[in-house]
Amino acid sequence: GTVVLAYSGGLDTSCILVWLKEQGYDVVAYLANIGQKEDFEAARKKALALGAKKVYIEDVSREFVEQFIWPAVQANALYEDRYLLGTALARPCIARRLVEIAQREGAQHVAHGATGKGNDQVRFELSCYALCPKIKKHGIPVPVTPKTPWSMDENLMHISYEAGILENPKNQAPPGLYTKTCDPANSPDTPDVLEIQFERGVPVKVTNTGDGATRSSALELFVYLNDIAGKHGVGRIDIVENRFVGMKSRGIYETPAGTILYHAHLDIEAFTMDREVRKIKQGLSLKFSELVYNGFWHSPECEFLRECIGHSQEPVEGTVRLSVFKGHVYILGRESPRSLYNEELVSMNVQGDYEPADATGFININSLRLKEYHRLQSKVTVK
Ligand code: ARG
Ligand code: SIN
Repeated sequence: GTVVLAYSGGLDTSCILVWLKEQGYDVVAYLANIGQKEDFEAARKKALALGAKKVYIEDVSREFVEQFIWPAVQANALYEDRYLLGTALARPCIARRLVEIAQREGAQHVAHGATGKGNDQVRFELSCYALCPKIKKHGIPVPVTPKTPWSMDENLMHISYEAGILENPKNQAPPGLYTKTCDPANSPDTPDVLEIQFERGVPVKVTNTGDGATRSSALELFVYLNDIAGKHGVGRIDIVENRFVGMKSRGIYETPAGTILYHAHLDIEAFTMDREVRKIKQGLSLKFSELVYNGFWHSPECEFLRECIGHSQEPVEGTVRLSVFKGHVYILGRESPRSLYNEELVSMNVQGDYEPADATGFININSLRLKEYHRLQSKVTVK
C-alpha cells in the first residue's frame, strides 16, 4: 500500500520514511510550507534520496492565516491566559492537506513524527480521523535527536522551544535561543507607530505612520507585523502549561504579529461590541481556545463556536492606532463608523441623554442587597 508521511526534512521523519519503505510501503512525502524558515528543495532531494516515491511541497501559509489565524484573532483566543496557540492552530491546517493528499494518491495510510507524550500527536490524529474516518495511521516512536539542546516547532505565527535543557522550569532560556524577536533590551529607541484597520474582526490594512508603508493582503500584512514586532522584541513568553494528555510542560514561545493583533483586536472589539454580547463571547472564546489546544479544530462543537464568534464580529470594524516599542504594544487611539462610544453620553461637561436624578434610585435598589448582607454579617460576628 501507499502511505503519506508528514515529512519535516529532519532526522526523525527521515528515519520514519526509511522504516516505512522497509516495511514494504510506497512512501509519499508531504512537506507543508506553513511559513517556517527551511530549505524546501534540500528537503525534497533528501526525501527522494531516501526512497520516497513522490514528494509534495505544499504552501499552506495563506490558508493558515486566512482560515486558522484569523478566526483565532476574532476570538481573542488564548490558552491558560497566555498562550496564543501558534502550534495548536497549525496542526489542523497541516493535517487537512495531509488527508487531501492521501485521498488524491489513493493512500489508505498516513504517518507523522510527533512524539507520544505530546499534544501534537493528538491534534494530528484527531484531525485525520475527523476528515477521513477510514484512514489508518502510523505513529512511529523515534528517539528525540535535536540539533539544539531543546526542541523547536516553527510556523508563520510562532516558534516554540521545549524540552532538553528547558525541561527544568527554573532554568532561564539562554539569550541565543530566540529567533523571531530581538531582545527588548537591544531593540530600537524609537517606536513604530501603526494603524491597523479591521473589518468583521479581521485586519484588512496596516499602515506605518512613520514611513507610510501599507500592507493589505492577509499574508503580507501578517508577515509585515511579524517584522515590526520582531524588531521591537514583542511576543515572547515563558510559561508552564497543562498538556491535554495530563502533564504540565514548560514552553518558551515567540508570537510577534499574533501579539500585536491580539491587543489591537481586543481594543476595537471593546469599542464596537455590545457589553452583554461581549461577555457571552468571552465565554465562547475560552471554550474555543481549549478545543483548539486539545486538537478538536475539526469537530462539530468547534465549527459551531467559529460560527457564533464570526457572527459576533459583524460590527467589529475601525482603525486602531498603536505603538510597538521595547517589547510592548501601546494602544494610542481608535476610531470606527460602528463605535458604540457616545462622547456626549459619557462627557463630564455635557448632560446628554442621561438623567442624574435617576442614578439615586438605581444606586438605592442596588445597595439593598449589600445592606442586608452587612446587617447579617454584623449579627454573626457579634454572636
Ligand atoms: N506546547 C505547545 C503546544 O502544545 C507547543 C508544542 C510544540 N510542539 C512541538 N512538537 N515542539 O501547542
Ligand atoms: C511533541 O508532540 O513533540 C511534544 C510537544 C507537544 O505536543 O506538546
